[in-house]
Amino acid sequence: MGARVSNMAASPFATGAAIALALAVYLLYRWIVRPVNRVKRLGDLGFHFGEELTGRYKESQIERMKRLRVLGELPPVYPNGWFCIAESGDVAPKEIKPIIFMGEQLTLIRSENGKVHLIDSYCPHLGANFNVGGRVVDGNCVQCPFHGWVFSGETGKCTRIPNCEGSIPEQAKVSVWPVKEVNKCIFVWYHCDGHDPEWEVPEIPEITNGNWIYKGRTDHEILCHCQEIPENGADIAHLNYLHLIGVNEGNNITRIEMSKAEPLVRHVWNGKWEPEAAPNQHVSAMYLKQFMTFAGFPIPLTYSDLKAIQIGPGIVHMMFDFGFLGRGIVMQHVTPEEPVQQRVRFTMYADLNDAFAKFFLISEANHFERDIYIWTNKRYIKNPLYAKNDGPIGKHRRWFNQFYGENSPRLNKDGTLTNRPISINDW
Ligand SMILES: *[C@@H]1O[C@H](CO)[C@@H](O)[C@H](O)[C@H]1NC(C)=O
Ligand code: FES
Ligand SMILES: [Fe+2]
Repeated sequence: MGARVSNMAASPFATGAAIALALAVYLLYRWIVRPVNRVKRLGDLGFHFGEELTGRYKESQIERMKRLRVLGELPPVYPNGWFCIAESGDVAPKEIKPIIFMGEQLTLIRSENGKVHLIDSYCPHLGANFNVGGRVVDGNCVQCPFHGWVFSGETGKCTRIPNCEGSIPEQAKVSVWPVKEVNKCIFVWYHCDGHDPEWEVPEIPEITNGNWIYKGRTDHEILCHCQEIPENGADIAHLNYLHLIGVNEGNNITRIEMSKAEPLVRHVWNGKWEPEAAPNQHVSAMYLKQFMTFAGFPIPLTYSDLKAIQIGPGIVHMMFDFGFLGRGIVMQHVTPEEPVQQRVRFTMYADLNDAFAKFFLISEANHFERDIYIWTNKRYIKNPLYAKNDGPIGKHRRWFNQFYGENSPRLNKDGTLTNRPISINDW
């Protein structure tokens, strides 16, 4: 009898524990299979004030850092090329999405039949902003929220003025920017002399045909010149310093003990960067081998063999092959939103196992965020001091120069631009 009582008492507890364990396993599983979505807004990381600041104090300190920042002799701020302005899923048919690109406010729409169009946001009538209250109407047109004028997303021309008997003024037209949708992303072409696209964004068939599955994205706002980010690919020496300490120690470089040459967990890097020959001179490639060690011993499954192909100034296709574990890509898109402010999106598609893909993307994000601490605060040095272990930084700069022209906008001392970027359709 007594034994039966104690049995009865133990079982609800055991059942409870089993349910809790099952729930924990289920939640862990849900977390693992959910694609990564790591979004860091300006100020979330990259700053250090020497003391802990929050809220309003942090905001004003960030403003002060921006004011005090020595930018150095920057190259022009907006290079020529294709730039990612959105992911395909960001704008559904008949939807409107506000875009900031090269300091301009633009309006992205998707027409009823699925085509994307990008136009200037200011209405030529009385200057209202389409991004705030505008609508997609008549298939592929935008209707202004103020007096309801309608503009074609295709041609920019005003197609109708509500309640107006008279004719439509000839100048009633907005600027249209050239866009392209590929690899489930939307790109805009910019050229300082109004040239048509000089190269294309290569399509990744495995993304289009669905063989590689969406594994997640990261999204960062960074205060730096757009060239600093790709230059990292040629800066071989920083790999075995800034990125040496294991990813287990995270992204915050003010906290990581950087000078430990042999930490318990470390990354070993071996990189090479080189530009491609004509007619692919707008392409360069970085080959990167990496593995992790624990107490000096290589950790299995941490070997990665990457080829990061830079296509123009704002697109990198990082292709990876983990042998029997699978293959895939991380597309890295740098978009200049302001002269010294970039939006960087990483998007991963792969046929890798979910847990492994998540580990890879989160590790990559942590390493990238260490660079953000550097980029957010550095000045640009036009003539760096080189040592023997430095990578081909000078060569990378000469390669990158092809994306600027005489008319590329430069930042003046007073914060204005020498000239505003305009659509190639306005030449
Ligand atoms: C980075 O580490 C420092 C020092 O521990 C800390 O004060 C700061 O809040 C950390 N920054 C972030 C963004 O976590
Ligand atoms: S301001 Fe756009 S319709 Fe009047
Ligand atoms: Fe880096």
